[in-house]
Amino acid sequence: MATAYAEAGDRTAAATHAARLTHVSKSFAGPAGPQLVLDDISLDVAPGEFVTLLGASGCGKSTLLNLVAGLDRPTAGSIETTGGRPALMFQEHALFPWLTAGKNIELALRLRGVAKAGRRAEAERLLGLVRLGGAYGKRVHELSGGMRQRVALARALAQDSRLLLMDEPFAALDAITRDVLHDELTRIWREAGVSVLFVTHNVREAVRLAQRVVLLSSRPGRVAREWTVGIEHPRRIEDAAVAELSVEITEELRGEIRRHGRD
Ligand SMILES: Nc1ncnc2c1ncn2[C@@H]1O[C@H](COP(=O)(O)OP(=O)(O)OP(=O)(O)O)[C@@H](O)[C@H]1O
Ligand SMILES: [Mg+2]
Repeated sequence: MATAYAEAGDRTAAATHAARLTHVSKSFAGPAGPQLVLDDISLDVAPGEFVTLLGASGCGKSTLLNLVAGLDRPTAGSIETTGGRPALMFQEHALFPWLTAGKNIELALRLRGVAKAGRRAEAERLLGLVRLGGAYGKRVHELSGGMRQRVALARALAQDSRLLLMDEPFAALDAITRDVLHDELTRIWREAGVSVLFVTHNVREAVRLAQRVVLLSSRPGRVAREWTVGIEHPRRIEDAAVAELSVEITEELRGEIRRHGRD
C-alpha cells in the first residue's frame, strides 16, 4: 500500500471519515519548472456527508478529485479513503456507446464481482433508482443528455462505493434537467447514505446540494473558506435562503478571481 494514497478500514467499521486529505500538495512539471497547483490542502469528508468544492476555472478542483480517486498521486501529504474505491462521475458521461444503458451498468457490476445471474436485476433496480426504468435496452445515442447522465450516475452507484466523487456532472445540461437531477441526487444521497464530494463552479448548485461548501483559492489552490449549509431539505435552487448564501459565497469567489486573474 502506498504511503501517499491509502484505502483504509472495512465498510462495517465505524469510520470517522470517508475521505481525509492531510497537507496535500500537487505540482505539475511546467515550462518554467514545477507548477504548484494545490497547496497544503487538509480536508475531511465525513461518512454520509455531502461536500461541494467550489472554485474558479483552473484552480485545481479536478486535480484534487483525481487525487482522491487515486488516479494520480499527491506531491506531498496523504489521502485516505474508507469503504472501498471511490466511484467517479465526470461532466462527460463516458458511457460505452456500443453498449446499451443496461449493459453499461452491468459492466460496472461485473467489475465489482457481482455474479452474472444477479446482474440484470441489479441493473434494472439501479435504472429505476435514477428514474430510468424501461431504458435497459436503449443504446447511448438514443438517450438525451440528461438521461445519459442518469445512466452514468446509475453506473457510479453500481460500484457500491461509500464515496461518490462528481466532477461537474450536470454542467452541460439545461437548467430544468439539472434541477430534476439535483432532486434525484439529493434523494439518492439521503436514501443510500453515501458520502459525496461534488465539484462545481456554479455557486447556486453548490448551495442547493451541499451540507458544506468549500471554496478553493486559485494559483495555487488552497482552502480559502468553508460554509456549513443549514438550509432544510427539500431545497430549490430559487429558494431565498439558497440565493442569500449564494450571494455571500459569490462575493468571496469574485474576490479570489480578482486576486488571481482569470484564465
Ligand atoms: N496532468 C497535468 N499536467 C500538467 N498540468 C496539469 C495537469 N492537470 C492539470 N494541470 C494544470 O493544473 C491546473 C488545475 O487544473 P484543473 O483541471 O484541476 O482545474 P479545475 O479547477 O478543475 O478547472 P475547471 O473548472 O476549468 O475544470 C491547471 O493550470 C492545469 O493546466
Ligand atoms: Mg475541472
